[in-house]
Amino acid sequence: MTLSAPQIRARKRRHGAAPLVMVTAYDEPGARFATAAGVDLILVGDSVANVVLGHDDTLHVSLEAMCHHVRAVAAARPDAHVVGDMPWMSYHAGVDESVKNAAALIRAGANSVKLEGGRVRRDVVRAILDAEIPVMGHLGLTPQSVMAFGGFKVQAKTREAAAALILDAKVLQDEGVFALVVEGVPSLVGTQLTEALEIPTIGIGAGPDTDGQVLVFHDLLGLGNRKPAKFVRQYADLGPLITGAIAHFAADVREGRFPGPDEAYPNPEELTQ
Ligand code: KIV
Repeated sequence: MTLSAPQIRARKRRHGAAPLVMVTAYDEPGARFATAAGVDLILVGDSVANVVLGHDDTLHVSLEAMCHHVRAVAAARPDAHVVGDMPWMSYHAGVDESVKNAAALIRAGANSVKLEGGRVRRDVVRAILDAEIPVMGHLGLTPQSVMAFGGFKVQAKTREAAAALILDAKVLQDEGVFALVVEGVPSLVGTQLTEALEIPTIGIGAGPDTDGQVLVFHDLLGLGNRKPAKFVRQYADLGPLITGAIAHFAADVREGRFPGPDEAYPNPEELTQ
C-alpha cells in the first residue's frame, strides 16, 4: 500500500522505524521494477536530465518534461509513494507560479513534490503546503546550485556550514516538510542532522545514520556513462548485458538467423496456393 506523506513523516529510525528506501525512476518500466522490488518511495528526479537526457547538470530539464516523466511513472500504478522533483526555475520566480507548478506535478501523478534549498525557499514551501501539497526538502550538495557552488562539491565541511545546514533543515521542518533529502555531506553532518530533526532524513552521500537512503536508478544498475560518485554502490552491471544482447541481435540479423520460424506468422493457405 502506498505510504502517505504523514506515514513517511513518522518513519524515524530512533523511534524503531525501518529505514526508508527510495530510488529514482523516470518511466513505466523503471517504476514497475522498483515497485516489484518493494521500495517505499520512487523519486522522479530531475537527475533525468543527466541519466536519461544526457546533460552534464540538472538545469536543463523543464517542468513539462518532468510532468511527462511523472506520468510515465504513474502509468505503472506503483505501490510506492511517488515524489515529483521540481526542476530549476519552476519555484524560483514567485510563489503563485511555484504553487501552480507543484500542482502540475501532482496532476501528472505525483503524491508529493521535492524542492531544493533551505531558508531562502521558506515562503515557497509554505505556499505549496498551504495548497495541501506535501513537500520534501533537499539540502547539502543540491545539484541545482552547481553554478553557485562552483561544481559538484561536498557541502557542510566546516562547523559553521554544518550549523547553517541544520538551521535550514529546522526551518523546513517547522514549515511542515514531511522528509528531507540530504546529499553530499560528511557522515557526521548526516548523523547530527538526523539527530536534530523529528522528520526523517533520506541520505545520498550522507553516511549510514540517516533515516533512509536514495540512489539513482542508472547508478544502482550500472547504466551510466561516467564513473559514479563515491557514494554510489552499483548493485548490477546491466550496461554490458544490454550491449551484448543488442550485438547478439545484430549478428543474428546479419547472418540470417533472425527471424526464425517461431518468430514469423504462418502463411495462410490462400496465399500459398
Ligand atoms: O534528482 C535526483 O535524482 C535527486 C536525488 C539525487 C536525491 O534529487
